[in-house]
Amino acid sequence: MAGRVQGKLALITGAAQGLGAEFARLLASEGAKVLVTDINGEGAARTAAELNAKHGAGTAFSAQHDVTDEAAWIAVVEQARRDLGGLSVLVNNAGMGTRGMVEEIDLADWRKVFAVNMDGTFLGCKHALPLLKEAPAASIINISSIAAMIVGPGMSAYHAAKAAVWTFTKAVAIECARKTKVRCNSIHPAWTDTAILDGLARPGASHEEVVDKLGSVNPMRRVGQPHEIAQAVLFLASDESSYMTGAELKLDGGLSAT
Ligand SMILES: NC(=O)c1ccc[n+]([C@@H]2O[C@H](COP(=O)([O-])OP(=O)(O)OC[C@H]3O[C@@H](n4cnc5c(N)ncnc54)[C@H](O)[C@@H]3O)[C@@H](O)[C@H]2O)c1
Repeated sequence: MAGRVQGKLALITGAAQGLGAEFARLLASEGAKVLVTDINGEGAARTAAELNAKHGAGTAFSAQHDVTDEAAWIAVVEQARRDLGGLSVLVNNAGMGTRGMVEEIDLADWRKVFAVNMDGTFLGCKHALPLLKEAPAASIINISSIAAMIVGPGMSAYHAAKAAVWTFTKAVAIECARKTKVRCNSIHPAWTDTAILDGLARPGASHEEVVDKLGSVNPMRRVGQPHEIAQAVLFLASDESSYMTGAELKLDGGLSAT
């Protein structure tokens, strides 16, 4: 039986671990060929090896890729043309945050958060669009956060950078809507069980403790699981979402409804 993204050619950034690796797993299991990239090149290669072992050689390719590096983006898009034979899905997933009250954040840390989340997404769209436009139908999926819409103390750089990704997504969608077959949407998860949560733990706290604490303030009384966020990526990557562009999907256990 054909998968939901059979024949799609997907580039996923930040796919050495966490959400990016899970997106690659689901897209590959539904028939896509994937190029998984990460600043951690060994981790990206591990993800690709796992998928090739499961779905057959030639399913997945990998690259060491810093999303803040414009030359690296040009090389990775060229690799997509060469290894995948084109590109129809781009998942701008690589991201990071920093903690600290506004008066405490170093400018260098502020800029790093914007560089990885926002510059990385901009460069991905800029350099992948020419190849995406060659596909019969293409989808850009930008991984923002519910933190783009609701805020708490101590994470202003992350809130602002993810809000920029959210608005930028709509701008790309509108630029592409009339004359291209490229759609562009954003995904907004609440806390989801990956290693990124460890950066939020008080010193000495275990991963389980931070997961329990963050989950306790969610209406569903739990954090999200990577496979739950991956379902939204699958939908947006597939032609099932063909009339959807410039939109945002919130996967937050109801948090933003309270
Ligand atoms: N887990 C959550 O609670 C959550 C919630 C909302 C949004 N998000 C977003 O989802 C995305 C994935 O997060 P995750 O939870 O899997 O985190 P993670 O820390 O497990 O994974 C992030 C990946 O990005 C890579 N990366 C970091 N800087 C990079 C760079 N400059 N170039 C290329 N790769 C780089 C890391 O090496 C890592 O593999 C991020 O954009 C994050 O902001 C996560």
